[in-house]
Amino acid sequence: MMKIDILTLFPNMFNGFKSESIIKRAIDNKKVSINTINFRDFSANKHKKVDDTPYGGGSGMVLMCQPIFDAIDSIKTKKSKIILLSPQGKKFTQKMAYKLSKEEHLIFVCGHYEGFDERIKNICDEEVSIGDYVLTGGELPAMVICDSVVRLIDGVIDAESSKNESFNDNLLDYPNYTKPRNYKGMKVPDILLSGDHEKINNWRNDKRLKVTAEKRPDLLNKRVKIDKSGIKENKNKISLDDIKNIKVTEIKQAKKTGKYKLLRTSDIKAITILDTSIIKGYKLKGKSGSDHVTKILIVKNSFIKKIAMKNVKKKIDILNYRFNIVLSNEDDDEGTSRVLGEAEMLKQMIINMYSNYLGSENIDKIIKRINYLINEFVKAKTFQNSFVNKTKEVQRKI
Ligand SMILES: C[S@@+](CC[C@H](N)C(=O)[O-])C[C@H]1O[C@@H](n2cnc3c(N)ncnc32)[C@H](O)[C@@H]1O
Repeated sequence: MMKIDILTLFPNMFNGFKSESIIKRAIDNKKVSINTINFRDFSANKHKKVDDTPYGGGSGMVLMCQPIFDAIDSIKTKKSKIILLSPQGKKFTQKMAYKLSKEEHLIFVCGHYEGFDERIKNICDEEVSIGDYVLTGGELPAMVICDSVVRLIDGVIDAESSKNESFNDNLLDYPNYTKPRNYKGMKVPDILLSGDHEKINNWRNDKRLKVTAEKRPDLLNKRVKIDKSGIKENKNKISLDDIKNIKVTEIKQAKKTGKYKLLRTSDIKAITILDTSIIKGYKLKGKSGSDHVTKILIVKNSFIKKIAMKNVKKKIDILNYRFNIVLSNEDDDEGTSRVLGEAEMLKQMIINMYSNYLGSENIDKIIKRINYLINEFVKAKTFQNSFVNKTKEVQRKI
C-alpha cells in the first residue's frame, strides 16, 4: 500500500478530498493511506509559532525551518520521497504522476504565506509546481498531485480506462459520445454506431492525432520530429516508451518458459534481439565493436511482436495524419508527391526492419493496408483537383 503524508497548517482542507469518489475507494480498499500532519504541532516555540519575518526586510511571513525539519524527521524513512510544493518547482506532468505512482512513501510539504525558508529545500527531494500561477498555499497543489498519482496506482481504476487517456504517448484523448444518438440536431458520428471495432479504433487513433495537432501541437512535436521533408517519427521517444511498458511479470514468465530474448537499449537506435545461447555464456556485445550494452531486458517473443506491431501502427497513424494535412491544403502538389514518397519509404522501412519480428503474413497485411490508404488518398486528391479546376473554369466563364 502506498503511504502519503501531507505536512500542512490546514489539515481540514483535506477532509472532503479524502471522503469522496475514487480517492475514498482507494483508501477503503487499502491501496493508499493519506495522512495529514499539522507541522504547527512540531513547533518548539511556546506559542506554536511556525513563521517569522524575512531577513533583509520585505512583506509577508516566511515558514521557519524547525517545525518542518522536525515533522519530516518524525516520519521519514529510506523509502520516502519528499516533495516541496512551490510555484518555482518543476512543472507537474502525467509522466511525473506515473513515476510517483510507483513510490512507496510520498511526503508533501505545503507552504503558505510568503513561502519557505530557503534551507527547507535541502531536505526535500523535489520541488514541484502545478502551473505558472500563485496560490495561497500548497494544499490544492498537494491534492491535485495526489489525485493524479492515486488513480494510477495498480488496481485503483480499470487499467483499460487509463490506456488512451490524454498525454499517454504524448497524444490527447479521442472524442467520446453517449446516448442519445441525436441531441438537438447534433449527431454521433456514424462510425461509432457501426460495430466495426477495427474501424472504430482507426477512427479514434486518427482523432487522437488530429485533436492533438489542433489543440496541443507542442505535444505532437515531442512525439515526432518535423523537418523540411515532413514529419518523421522520433524513434528514441516512442521506442523508449514502449520499452518502459514491458512489465516485470512478463520478464519472469519468460524466464520460466526458458524463452529468453535480449533487448539492447544502450542507444535505442534499433531493437537488437540476440540469441538465447548468448545469455548462457554472458557474451554480450552490441552490433558494432564500439557499442556497449548498458541495460538488458529479458522479454517473451510474443511481447516483442506486440511492441513491433504497436510501433508499426503508430507509423501508419502518422502517415494517415500526413495524408489528411495534404488533403486539407487544396493546392499543395509538392506536398502530395512528398507524402506519397514518404508512404513508399515507410513500406520499405517496415519490410526491412520488422519482417523478422512480425513474419511475412503480418507484413503482407500491413503493406496492403498502406496501399489501401495510398489509393484512398490518391482518389480523394484527384477528385479534389478536378473539383478545384472545374470551379476555376466556372469562375473564369463568369
Ligand atoms: C503564496 S505562495 C508563495 C509564493 C512565493 N512567494 C513565490 O512568489 O514564489 C505560498 C505557497 O503556496 C504554494 N503554491 C503556490 N502556488 C503554487 C503552485 N503553482 N504550485 C505549487 N505550489 C504552489 C507553495 O507551497 C508556496 O510556498
